[in-house]
Amino acid sequence: MSDLPRWAQEDVWRKVAIWVTAGMFVVLIILTFDSVAVITAGSERVPAYSVINQRIYYRMDRERGFQAPVIGEEAPLFGTVLTEEEAAKMVSHGKLTVQAKNCINCHTLLGNGAYYAPDLTKSWLDPAWGNEAVRESMMVKFLMDPESNARGYGTNRKMPNLDITEEEARAVVAFLKWMSSIDTTGFPAGFPAIAQEGDR
Ligand code: HEC
Repeated sequence: MSDLPRWAQEDVWRKVAIWVTAGMFVVLIILTFDSVAVITAGSERVPAYSVINQRIYYRMDRERGFQAPVIGEEAPLFGTVLTEEEAAKMVSHGKLTVQAKNCINCHTLLGNGAYYAPDLTKSWLDPAWGNEAVRESMMVKFLMDPESNARGYGTNRKMPNLDITEEEARAVVAFLKWMSSIDTTGFPAGFPAIAQEGDR
């Protein structure tokens, strides 16, 4: 045993393994705190929930080479300006509804979920809603009764009725509006946002 060169000795490798594991554990803790800071609402790329009081649209960011969300002037959801606390409550109710109804069984949200139905990350900005003025009420109507308000996207796929109440539907719309304001570095790629006045 002892005539082996030092680098080949078992106790050296045991120590190396312990130090590497301990070192990586520290790195993991640092990265966890770093990631949580970046994904928390109210940070640079994930706006605070009260962003639903403002107009959200997309603009080509030439420097970065993809469309990035732009937060514009006041445009309260359903015409009511909410406090940060009220907005947080509404968005969180929407998120819980999305989880309870298992929307990611068919849809993708921020890259998580299935590919059966359209990605919902930017669905707030989907040109299919027609225009900004009717979008909110169309979304609520669609969520409450997707079967009669189906649009199909040329796929013949239909969303089933999920027994969503009006209050839940409004909260889901708040959640979707907030989500569209997140800077996802261009995900989903090539998303055609609603053409909006003064964009060009
Ligand atoms: C069984 C699969 C399925 C489930 C579960 C489902 N959807 Fe859908 N959804 C679809 C399909 C298919 C479409 C496209 C239908 C159409 O255009 O008529 C769609 C369309 C949508 C759209 C319009 C997308 C856009 O870009 O304009 C929204 C918003 C939406 N769903 C939200 C939800 C929410 C919120 C939930 C959960 C509460 C949910 N869906 C659950 C299948 C599903």
